Amino acid sequence: MARLNKEDNQGDSPKTGEKKMSEINILVASSGTRNKIIRYFKENLKGKGRVIATDMSANAPSIYEADAFYLVPRITDPGYLPLIFDICKKERITGILSLIDPELSLLAKHKAEFEALGVTVIGSSEELCDLTLDKWAMYNYLMDRDIPCARSYMKIDDFLQDLRKGAISYPVFVKPAHGSASLSIAVANDEETLRVLMKQNSDMMIQEFLHGKEIGADVYIDMLSGQIVSIFTKEKLLMRAGETDKGRSFKDEKLFAFIQDFVNGAGFRGQIDIDIFEVDGQYMISEVNPRFGGGYPHAYECGVNHMALIVNNLEGTVNQPVIGNYEEGMIMMKYVEVMVRHE
Ligand SMILES: Nc1ncnc2c1ncn2[C@@H]1O[C@H](COP(=O)(O)OP(=O)(O)O)[C@@H](O)[C@H]1O
Ligand SMILES: [Mg+2]
Repeated sequence: MARLNKEDNQGDSPKTGEKKMSEINILVASSGTRNKIIRYFKENLKGKGRVIATDMSANAPSIYEADAFYLVPRITDPGYLPLIFDICKKERITGILSLIDPELSLLAKHKAEFEALGVTVIGSSEELCDLTLDKWAMYNYLMDRDIPCARSYMKIDDFLQDLRKGAISYPVFVKPAHGSASLSIAVANDEETLRVLMKQNSDMMIQEFLHGKEIGADVYIDMLSGQIVSIFTKEKLLMRAGETDKGRSFKDEKLFAFIQDFVNGAGFRGQIDIDIFEVDGQYMISEVNPRFGGGYPHAYECGVNHMALIVNNLEGTVNQPVIGNYEEGMIMMKYVEVMVRHE
């Protein structure tokens, strides 16, 4: 049985006693370097409850911003989930969410067990979490639904056949079908380079290179009504290490309708982050992360507060749609911060 290693950060822990009806305690699992997510939840839970964070590393800076944190084993460790359940009980958690992709399916899979403990898993179904982890499965899903996306191949011969037919041309984008954080992404301008890139491992996927505007969308789908209640869209001005470094907020009804059609058809729930391209006036879905994306602080700082929507849902309140409730032309610029702690 895994041990509970709890550290209280602040002294504002409610003392022993019954769980108040209104108390909302949120567990942010695998919070890593996402300090702002913890801060935003704390802002929205003032007087209502606490934010608890977990991570496998004591050097994850975000845990020190939470009201309390626990160091946990890797999510693949057999003791991981029992420990998370114990933390939920001990901290009277009402809602849990994860900030890393591989954990999304795990939480979704055990949704019923969490529910039995009074904990809502803030996120999409296991099937959708699995789908978004697999870019090849996602491509086939989008094709089946006739949703515009980049033409993709897992086999070099299928690509070469289309190349000869003139259905696709160089340059092409190459990336692992199960990749994340822009790792191992590359561009190939000829067959020789493509063959070398494809030999890295069997998971490599070839994709039509999209020349166009890159867009990030932060979307909240009400967990009680299943309706999209908030959309924030930004044009990505500069990317760095797989994240939007600089962005500009904008609104387009056509884009909102495109997002609504895609999201409603898929049945996502809670927070999702969508990468979209605009190529020759046509919107295309590139990728979905069914969690808070690294660029979410851009939305929050523009007043698009999805933490408040989550708290409302956990309190049993259905949110009313407030799509596009932000100013256009806001320029968002990220910068680095440093946290120092004695070991
Ligand atoms: N088909 C494409 N054409 C042009 N750029 C692309 C294409 N696919 C991905 N990219 C660029 O690479 C980045 C990472 O690719 P993505 O599919 O989002 O994978 P990851 O899971 O690593 O984020 C994207 O944010 C985008 O800037
Ligand atoms: Mg991406």
